[in-house]
Amino acid sequence: MEFGSVKHFLRGKTILVTGATGFLGKIFVEKILRVQPDVKKLYLLLRASNSCSATERMYNEIIGKDLFKVLRDKLGDDFDSFISEKVMAVAGDVSSKNLGIRDVNLRKAMLEEIDIVLHSAASTKFDERFDVAMCTNTMGALNVVNFAKNCIKVEILLHVSTGSFSSISKT
Ligand SMILES: NC(=O)c1ccc[n+]([C@@H]2O[C@H](COP(=O)([O-])OP(=O)(O)OC[C@H]3O[C@@H](n4cnc5c(N)ncnc54)[C@H](OP(=O)(O)O)[C@@H]3O)[C@@H](O)[C@H]2O)c1
Repeated sequence: MEFGSVKHFLRGKTILVTGATGFLGKIFVEKILRVQPDVKKLYLLLRASNSCSATERMYNEIIGKDLFKVLRDKLGDDFDSFISEKVMAVAGDVSSKNLGIRDVNLRKAMLEEIDIVLHSAASTKFDERFDVAMCTNTMGALNVVNFAKNCIKVEILLHVSTGSFSSISKT
């Protein structure tokens, strides 16, 4: 796919991102918002006990980083309202069923709205405890696939992991 057509494809889309506090996820979020500001919405699934803590993590560990300086400078006073309109932190955990999203109404809305799933959450410690790595990297991927299967209009699931970069699309 040419870059121009990727940009066009992203217009009006709702995207679920896992691993957004991570090295790659953060770059993905910034790039989408900068090159395709007409994206509809990004749901960022973050490990947190509730939506307030997830939102706090989103601002402290993603949006507030220097990486977003270009976008912040470009949008000026509109930056904060742009972020509030386009980006929503969701408390969850990929190792849990339904990605640990406890808010039923939010989960329902996500299942109805999501067009694209980008899964980059993982334990990247090479000496991680086996059970933790298994829950996060293996069961986590399965939980994301199952969640995506329940998204009524999902078009693509992109899974980024060491040794694999795979995507599944409906077409
Ligand atoms: N970085 C690279 O150069 C590179 C190259 C090739 C492949 N990859 C692969 O790409 C993927 C992402 O890499 P990365 O470098 O961005 O990793 P990273 O910086 O270690 O970030 C991992 C992300 O996963 C999240 N996460 C971990 N366990 C989770 C869970 N149970 N539920 C929800 N989120 C969870 C972390 O959230 P917390 O903030 O809560 O910990 C963090 O946001 C990995 O599979 C990695 O192996 C990376």
